[in-house]
Amino acid sequence: MENKNKPIGIFDSGVGGLTVVNHLLEVLPNENFIFFADNANIPYGNKNKKHLKQLVIDDIRFVSKFDIKAIAIACNTADSVIDKKTKEIAKVDIIRPIKSTAKLAVKETKNKKIGVMATKATCLSKNYLKAINKYDDTIEVYQQPCPLLAGYIENQNCFNNEELMLEVLKQYLKPLLEKEVDTIILGCTHYPLALKYLTTLAKDINFVSSSLATVLEIEKLLKEKNLLADKVHLREFYTNGDIEEFKEKTDKFITKDINKIIKKSY
Ligand code: DGL
Repeated sequence: MENKNKPIGIFDSGVGGLTVVNHLLEVLPNENFIFFADNANIPYGNKNKKHLKQLVIDDIRFVSKFDIKAIAIACNTADSVIDKKTKEIAKVDIIRPIKSTAKLAVKETKNKKIGVMATKATCLSKNYLKAINKYDDTIEVYQQPCPLLAGYIENQNCFNNEELMLEVLKQYLKPLLEKEVDTIILGCTHYPLALKYLTTLAKDINFVSSSLATVLEIEKLLKEKNLLADKVHLREFYTNGDIEEFKEKTDKFITKDINKIIKKSY
């Protein structure tokens, strides 16, 4: 197989990764991919660093069983623990969300105040803070851990109880709005699924999606390496959780009409 038509290995703890897949299908419609949802271990955001590192190594090993051309980490929390060792295990280029999302947000902010909504683990790593201030050290960054949010979105109870969803989001937004940020990074790939509610609560805020930023980074890398695909032949979704549940989620959250092959991971 030509290198360019090899699949990209993509992983997340769950449906957050599907928001990355949606942008991928939009921006790079010829790409092939192997998607892995580590549903057995969600939420990543409340786990300690050592445990997370092991999970990320396992994720990389799983997608690396396939003949892939690159790995896209569709998870900010996973990105926050990547180190030299994990990069070596990968063997192909790794595309990571945090730096590229930070770069987009730096371009967007006018008043130089950026809020970051992310998981507890991502906030603890301070990687967003460091990345933003590396681009511009005059920017004020306010992190807001949202420990309940990814789980709510994954289990979809937020969509059945909109009042509760709005209440939870209000609590997380409040400290950031009080700091008068004009831009908020959705620093967890699950959060763009709540964008409708967030924009209702904070109409003037510029929300920057880490899912879109990840795909723009994929595009940049593939262009640089002359690896843009020109033929669709492999798009498979794997889960180590309940396969029926995952099927329903892909039907609900993948916005393009594609042939979805869903398998249990091995
Ligand atoms: N979607 C993931 C992220 O971008 C993490 C969600 C979780 O499992 O806590 O951080």
